[in-house]
Amino acid sequence: MGRGDDPPPARRRRPMIAEGIAYGGDYNPEQWPEEVWAEDVRLMREAGVNMVSVNIFAWALLEPREGEYDFSRLDRILALLHEHGIAADLATPTAAPPAWFFRKHPEALPVDKDGRRLSYGSRQTFCPSSPAYREAALRIARALGERYADHPAVVMWHVHNEYGCHNAECYCDVSAEAFRVWLRSRYGDLETLNHAWGTTFWSQWYYDWDEIIPPRATGAVPNPTHQLDWRRFCSDELLALYRAEREVLREAAPSVPATTNFMVMFAFDALDYWRWAPELDVVSNDHYLRSTDPESQIDIALSGDLVRSLAGGPWLLMEHSTGAVNWQPVNRAKTAGELRRNALAHVARGADGIAYFQWRAAKAGAEQWHSAMLPHAGTDSQIWRDVVALGADLKALAQVRGSTSPASVAVVWDWNARWALELPSQPSEAVRYLDMVRAWYEPLWRSGVAVDFVHPTADLSAYRLVLAPALYLVDDPSAANLTGFASAGGTLVVGFHSGAVDASCHVRLGGYPGAFREALGVRTDELFPLLPGESLGLSDGGTASLWSERVHLEGGEAVTSYTSGPLTGVPAVTRHPYGEGVAWYLATHPDPDTLAALLDRIRTEAGVEPVRRTPEGVEAVLRRGEDADYLFLINHGERAAEVHVASRATELLSGRGIDGGRVTVTPGDVVVVRESR
Ligand code: GLA
Repeated sequence: MGRGDDPPPARRRRPMIAEGIAYGGDYNPEQWPEEVWAEDVRLMREAGVNMVSVNIFAWALLEPREGEYDFSRLDRILALLHEHGIAADLATPTAAPPAWFFRKHPEALPVDKDGRRLSYGSRQTFCPSSPAYREAALRIARALGERYADHPAVVMWHVHNEYGCHNAECYCDVSAEAFRVWLRSRYGDLETLNHAWGTTFWSQWYYDWDEIIPPRATGAVPNPTHQLDWRRFCSDELLALYRAEREVLREAAPSVPATTNFMVMFAFDALDYWRWAPELDVVSNDHYLRSTDPESQIDIALSGDLVRSLAGGPWLLMEHSTGAVNWQPVNRAKTAGELRRNALAHVARGADGIAYFQWRAAKAGAEQWHSAMLPHAGTDSQIWRDVVALGADLKALAQVRGSTSPASVAVVWDWNARWALELPSQPSEAVRYLDMVRAWYEPLWRSGVAVDFVHPTADLSAYRLVLAPALYLVDDPSAANLTGFASAGGTLVVGFHSGAVDASCHVRLGGYPGAFREALGVRTDELFPLLPGESLGLSDGGTASLWSERVHLEGGEAVTSYTSGPLTGVPAVTRHPYGEGVAWYLATHPDPDTLAALLDRIRTEAGVEPVRRTPEGVEAVLRRGEDADYLFLINHGERAAEVHVASRATELLSGRGIDGGRVTVTPGDVVVVRESR
């Protein structure tokens, strides 16, 4: 077992087997009478669907009684798909155990933080540490593996579904024991654990392993390291379940690759996907828009860049929606052309497959108001017409499959730092990890700069510029990696409150920002977080919110300082030549224009250029093939835009040649230009 925050192990990847760009969605035919299936496959063909995920929530029908299987329906579904040339991404249905299982094993139901045991009657309501659940899940995974290993329709295993979506944490006694086992492996002895957790504080010293419990509801703030280790444990515990299922499937069907669908964006933050990604043969992700986000194209780009970075190359979009979802307070439909722009934006960021939740809109059940590829209204609908048109677009992009995405900027992303930053009792609870990353990512997106995300221990030699917007927690090797990158000639930009604590969440003494002080040439003796709505003037004419600190220069120079408030005259942004490179510190949160101007200046100095200069509102993304570049141009604006392209180029979606080295992108449109090299 790993320690919960070890660097990610080396990757092992296997190709996804579908031809060209995969296209499809979750297919749940068990929810429909069999007469409907013939229409399903006919319409799938019409739309160009070539791969669907089946069996995701079919456990109760597949195993009506413990150990008694009825595969006849699944046999017929797979045969039908195969007959129509549609590949199956065959799921283990382990995200939704049947009622009989919980009647027999009520102890496998999860317990929440307040000690309340939840009930069955939904999905993903099981304790991740339950031996009975594990046994039942592996039994059905094995049965499926053995039965369908050589089935000609099956091209991939879809293990479980969105691990941890609803049950990332269980606080029951079985979980408590599993937590203790994990802690023993991390710390070896209690003395070491006590020091790591700082348990002399508030009389928390442990004398016996059995005294340690999950961080259940308490009267006051629980110990921060206890909570952080709990998050690490919960991620690892689910990873152990994934690995166990994957091993069973690998044994039965060694040549079939396995995936499970991640959720790298939105509010979900329960899993350390750097530890998960190397365990997947194909990395896949689910992405949904937030109705309240006016610029969800930026969210798609960020999510796509992050998944591609986790995958180390192309990946698969396993789920998104054709229209509205059903789990937000108000569920917005997509505007004209948005379905197409969303899907092609994911392809631009490295997706080699586009799939939706789900194929046919449900009549009954918890998701009856969720959009689908085939809506309630049937084929005489805008969504269906868009789905068919997208199928043709994806077919035209077949040659893009497998191409890579070069970038010279890296943003450091770390779940340990996110968890630690968002623990209670911080200087400011208004500082949120994802907000910080998005704030820094946005100007890079607007200027068309290609970005990778990296783990703090990653090899940074391919990059010119590395940004660490919110690396609150950093261990010593990671800090050395980042500062070493700067001293070797790179440009490093560090956001406020970074480097503050070590891997055990202990404050780094001597001044902030602890681990980065020397490289940044600054030392802060006190933090001054700002109240909601409060802002300070900056000497470059901008404003600052959220955060300020009393920075003293120790080799660095002030680029901007405060012009109002208690820190008037104190540096807010600093620059420090360090070794062969440069290290910048953003000791506050500048307003968006000021931040954009600053990051523009920094990246220009670092020699980083946009993929292509485009008019405002036009997103340009490049994928690099063996003998050609694929330039994706997405017009999110309201005006037609002209973009310069190579003189020998073709537009792939229309198949037209391009004359005169320029292409026009009309508002809301997407063009994909193949530029031969
Ligand atoms: C998740 C699940 C799907 C479905 C969608 C709805 O991503 O994996 O089964 O519930 O949400 O948006």
